[in-house]
Amino acid sequence: MGFENTPLNRPGFGKIKETLITPRSYEDYKNILLFTDDDVRKWRAIVDLGSGIEQEFAKDAKRINPDATIISVDPGLALSEEEDLGRIPDTQLQRRRLHGRKNPEKYSIAALSNNLPLRADSVDAILALYSVPGYLEDDFDGEKAYDHIEGLLRQTDHVLAEGGTARFFPVAPAQKLMIERLATVVSSSTVRFIEKESGDQKNYLLLMTKHEKGA
Ligand SMILES: C[S@@+](CC[C@H](N)C(=O)[O-])C[C@H]1O[C@@H](n2cnc3c(N)ncnc32)[C@H](O)[C@@H]1O
Repeated sequence: MGFENTPLNRPGFGKIKETLITPRSYEDYKNILLFTDDDVRKWRAIVDLGSGIEQEFAKDAKRINPDATIISVDPGLALSEEEDLGRIPDTQLQRRRLHGRKNPEKYSIAALSNNLPLRADSVDAILALYSVPGYLEDDFDGEKAYDHIEGLLRQTDHVLAEGGTARFFPVAPAQKLMIERLATVVSSSTVRFIEKESGDQKNYLLLMTKHEKGA
């Protein structure tokens, strides 16, 4: 199913962690992040944050809404083929990755979640599945963890359009506490959590909704 965490140090991106090379499908995104095809049809700009290099979500979502701008964001997109494939131990997985690399999506950005090259109020949905906040930092007790989570919350609040939604899964209990303590940094959005069982651990789906002006 996967392989061990491979921290990658890259100038401009710092430490990027990646584990699974089994990109999840559009159906997985829908079932875990709790949205519907009708939601996707209404969204004009969608960000898949931590998309994975294969960008499976964008490939399928554009069949549901061909007019949407679906932006895959992943720091791994900055890697050369050699660097990228060198991290993958299994040839079948390598072939799949190679196929993804040779068939890039129209809107792909190599970037990190706390520094998104996107305009303010421009995105209807941000979807992050098994990427951030989990991959932000190994040490969730350290001071840096707060900075990373704060950066993620601020960026999300900044780029979401009025009425826009952001969905992040999984959020571990320790991260949930941090997000609750930092909730004041997202004064333009409502933050709530839905508890979900995953494996033997309790995790949360984080939902952020940007307020409509004048609402
Ligand atoms: C396990 S993969 C998940 C891929 C896809 N979302 C899925 O569910 O199949 C995690 C991805 O998060 C990306 N990632 C790690 N740190 C990130 C960050 N700070 N901002 C955006 N993406 C990040 C990794 O490069 C990796 O491709």
